[in-house]
Amino acid sequence: MNMMSPGIKKPVRSASVLFCLKEARGKAISSGRMANVLGISRTAVWKQIQSLKKYGYVISAENNGYQLQNSPDLLLPEEIQYTLGTSVFGKKIVYFLSIDSTNDYAKKIALQGAPHGTVVIAEEQRKGKGRLGRHWFSPGGKNIYLSLILRPSLLPQEAYKLTMVAGVSVVEAIEKETDVPVKLKWPNDVVVERKSFLKVGGILTEMSAESDRINFAVLGIGLNVNMAQEEWPPELRRSAFSLKEAVGSGNNLSRVSMLREMLRSLERNYQLIGGRWDEIYDTYCSMEIVTGKEISVQQGKERWTGKVVAIDSDGALVLKTKQGMQRIVAGDVTILKQSSAIISK
Ligand code: BTN
Repeated sequence: MNMMSPGIKKPVRSASVLFCLKEARGKAISSGRMANVLGISRTAVWKQIQSLKKYGYVISAENNGYQLQNSPDLLLPEEIQYTLGTSVFGKKIVYFLSIDSTNDYAKKIALQGAPHGTVVIAEEQRKGKGRLGRHWFSPGGKNIYLSLILRPSLLPQEAYKLTMVAGVSVVEAIEKETDVPVKLKWPNDVVVERKSFLKVGGILTEMSAESDRINFAVLGIGLNVNMAQEEWPPELRRSAFSLKEAVGSGNNLSRVSMLREMLRSLERNYQLIGGRWDEIYDTYCSMEIVTGKEISVQQGKERWTGKVVAIDSDGALVLKTKQGMQRIVAGDVTILKQSSAIISK
């Protein structure tokens, strides 16, 4: 007898009851069959069914088995891993309904030895962190808050490559999942152009390094997916935006497929760092919007004004100022000459 249920082609390592229910594609599947496919007891199947129900899955029990009726809009690891297809990124996912900051948690478990490619996801962050010590608005169930642990063979001064990979990957994922044209504003704001550039996402790279090596890096990605206009706090209304607002249809986007696509493109682009860095750099430059524009940039206590000549291949902003050329390695850009001013978040 074929132990696989209709639609279940082969057992998959780390497969779960949810995997079986989904593969049954709307048909009922018996707990005995799931137990066989997964190599677990029927009691273990029943426990997983109860746990799925607690998360909001609607699963009916028919005579001939269990049937998945409805899934909640949650970023559960099993949802993300279903059809993910990456070889390393997202193989291990740590999931929270609520946490202070996924980056802080990722740093903590990286110190304890969490492997390369581990992902930390939360539905809500109570103390979400942005760049330059800012707060990242992180309400529950609407957006994506993700931290990816990396153990790259890079020098600390090459960490900008990780940030560029993250920016390119987020833009590529959005382009795959939506028709919304998104761009990068140096160093790594993900923006949508309206009267001004509005921020839909941001990237915070943190790392632990010695003088000659990176011990680990954490890529923290925040993406505003399903926020409605009235849900923004007043102070963010003029600068923050969501993909749902950009699409304008009123329908929610699938956070699960967006997150899967982000992990796929992160893994693909990360693999290019070693041998094909030029491709990432060229793609980054094609997505970046400040080159050629008059800007003002705050780097630490200094503020520089001028025209952006380029983003160099070390990820620095090259600015032509009245005092001469300036290379800016980190800072906060305000675009000066545009139909209306950009408001930095
Ligand atoms: C920025 O200021 O543009 C960067 C924002 C980064 C936010 C993300 S959300 C997931 C991860 N956890 C955090 O606390 N921050 C990053």
